Amino acid sequence: MIQRPKGTYDVYGVKAKKILYLEKLINVLMEKYNYNYIRTPLFEKSELFHRAVGETTDIVTKETYDFKDKSDRDMTLRPEGTASVVRAYIENKMYSDPNLPSKNYYIGPMYRYERPQSGRYREFYQFGVEVFSSNDPMIDAEVISIPVNFYKLLGLKGVKVKINTLGDTESRNKYKEALIEYFKPYLDSLCEDCKNRYLKNPLRILDCKVDNDKEFFKDAPKMRDYLNEESKNYFEKVQKYLDALEIEYEVDYSIVRGLDYYNHTVFEVEASVEGFGAQNVLCGGGRYNGLVKMIGNTDEPGVGFALGFERLLTALEFENINLPYEDEIDVYVIPVGEKETAFSLLQALRLNGFKADTDYMDRSIKANFKQADRLNSKYVIIIGEEEVKNGIYKIKNNKTKEEFEINKEDIIDFLDQNIDSEEM
Ligand code: HAM
Repeated sequence: MIQRPKGTYDVYGVKAKKILYLEKLINVLMEKYNYNYIRTPLFEKSELFHRAVGETTDIVTKETYDFKDKSDRDMTLRPEGTASVVRAYIENKMYSDPNLPSKNYYIGPMYRYERPQSGRYREFYQFGVEVFSSNDPMIDAEVISIPVNFYKLLGLKGVKVKINTLGDTESRNKYKEALIEYFKPYLDSLCEDCKNRYLKNPLRILDCKVDNDKEFFKDAPKMRDYLNEESKNYFEKVQKYLDALEIEYEVDYSIVRGLDYYNHTVFEVEASVEGFGAQNVLCGGGRYNGLVKMIGNTDEPGVGFALGFERLLTALEFENINLPYEDEIDVYVIPVGEKETAFSLLQALRLNGFKADTDYMDRSIKANFKQADRLNSKYVIIIGEEEVKNGIYKIKNNKTKEEFEINKEDIIDFLDQNIDSEEM
């Protein structure tokens, strides 16, 4: 028996219903925020991720799924969505649309060759947002508000928002110099990866899972001491806007994030419930001014976030939250011999917006009523020889057990009056 690849999973049954519910909610929420749906390819030229995500990040050095296509080109399965959306934004000249800022959202699978464990998969799903062209700190606060409100709508309580600033390029460069100076005497004690990061991107050292509990890490320079006035002001404004939205947060100076493209605002949302597990970061994001310029020939600011579906589902289970996905149908049609008529009615019901099903297993009437119960059908319609002859159908309310005899032409009207159908 061939099994699925390690770190992947199949979606079916209740899990499928939950995921469809979450996706529906995301689409409705994003409509309210007036963000546009964007879809990019699952694979891109490898160079895109190397440049955007960063040569010294764990994602690029260890975790990408790389392959050569049949024309010997280097391709990579996307490990995250930002780089691809930035590429699409530039390539499709979305910046020339006067309707700015460009506010985009996506839902889709990402691929990272990580060690599989709870909350960490090799194929995982993200809901993400990328906003381009605005330098207004209000948009940073709005981007943070999206996952916060999404979690709130779902009823999650144990979440904590942590924010930090990495400052602008000038502040970051000063900070990098300070880190290089500070770690110099400790170079020999750093892991091999960090030795490599030392000159290329010393900020990455702070994010190292191997080294970061070493004693000398505690006194490493802090970003907050290297921020220029502009960066400080920007960060203060983001906080004011978060206050205006009554979003609770904690300023956590240790957040650097695992991707290289950030500056100014960075943030994470954690599941802060005891016992949740090590992979408790539900969502992460931040501002990435300069990334668009690095990839293309235009310079536009950007800010965004992404949240993982898998950790979200675990958090919902952890807090015993049942998603209100629909688990019932409107009508179950029972054919008694008259399968063509039943089949034709079934189609009419569906095209008029009712959720309808029938028997494809040649069940007895009794077994069909059981099936209607299993499907939580609100109504049952029986179509037999007599019904076809008279043109009058028996409709039973499957909850109250009330029975009605309705002319076949009036069936849709009857159901319209008794059930809220969804327009097609
Ligand atoms: P990230 O922090 O790498 O950021 O991932 C965001 C979220 O994706 C994480 O908080 C987590 O919920 C989920 N996630 C990441 N890796 C895995 C995994 N192996 N298994 C399951 N879930 C995972 C980004 O991807 C950035 N592109 C976010 C962003 C958008 N920044 C600006 N715009």
